[in-house]
Amino acid sequence: MSWPGVLAAYAPYLPVTEKTPSLTLLEGNTPLVYASHLSESWQIRLFLKLEGLNPTGSFKDRGMVMAVAHAIEEGAQTLLCASTGNTSASAAAYAARAGLRAVVVIPEGKVALGKLAQAVLYGAEVFAIAGNFDKALALVRNQADQAGVAIVNSINPYRLEGQQTAAFEVVDALGEVPDVVALPVGNAGNITAYWKGFRAYLQAGKAQRLPRMLGFEAKGAAAIVQGTPIDDPQTVATAIRIGNPASWQGAVNAARESGGSIDAVDDDAILDAYRMLARTEGIFAEPASAAAIAGIRQALTTGQIRTGETVVAVLTGNGLKDPQTALETAQVEIQHLDVDPYHLSEALRRV
Ligand code: F0G
Repeated sequence: MSWPGVLAAYAPYLPVTEKTPSLTLLEGNTPLVYASHLSESWQIRLFLKLEGLNPTGSFKDRGMVMAVAHAIEEGAQTLLCASTGNTSASAAAYAARAGLRAVVVIPEGKVALGKLAQAVLYGAEVFAIAGNFDKALALVRNQADQAGVAIVNSINPYRLEGQQTAAFEVVDALGEVPDVVALPVGNAGNITAYWKGFRAYLQAGKAQRLPRMLGFEAKGAAAIVQGTPIDDPQTVATAIRIGNPASWQGAVNAARESGGSIDAVDDDAILDAYRMLARTEGIFAEPASAAAIAGIRQALTTGQIRTGETVVAVLTGNGLKDPQTALETAQVEIQHLDVDPYHLSEALRRV
């Protein structure tokens, strides 16, 4: 059977009405890959939810399709968002698909190249501010009353409704609920949506229990962990470079109610995990996504994850989004080779 996209596949669990347009880029249905090497070395059962295989390369498409479909239903002509990159790429793509205008506000110089390329090519109007994501979101929120404009950040409840579908897929693919779900936390919409999704599935009788939710902020942007907003958040993981998460309370509730936690991982740990994931499992995720892997590694040392447990790491975005960080941090030199068979055969003999 062909995949119809998340609105059609999970309609009974979503605010889909007979008036909702059947918008889709065939988002969702992403692979849940068993990480055999990391599972063996960490003595757990680790599965990777590859959200980077969504149509625009991140998990945002799940919530975006729902938010845009609803915006169309309400008669909007313009989609507006603040973004660290992925939301803007997703908004721009669905706007193009639906024939709407997309206006995006981003922090200047802090959006990965691939994400910027996407927004521009999909035809969005891109505005860069001399300020961080939190400032961009404040500007956007200020326009909430503009006629014909729909804000498609995760402060839009339809975004979170759509993003729940990732939790449904985890349960459907595993055939059970994992012990732990680990994911990066930026604006905190995704962890809020997963928790909502698992509870909805429990209520519907599709799940028998709930997982522990472990959320990981980048240390230089760990407002929730520190308990106070951060004016100048800094991290190599630009996707989660956020100092005052909009869904702060949602993340805290998910952690507390599930018996999980929100913790921080530093940039060195994120980059280590980023390289390790690529080299041991053959999976290229963006730095923010690697925070989930760094977090699992840390949680194994603190006892928050125990031997033998089933753990799902949500790899939120595709590594191709950020080629610059890959090249700058891979610790590998690209070597010159003379066009001469002797040189290549010498290189192959070298161990
Ligand atoms: N991972 C990636 C790749 C992201 O792009 C984001 C957020 C997150 C994790 C964190 O998710 O905000 O729901 O806690 N990116 C947003 C954006 C902020 O504008 O693209 P969250």
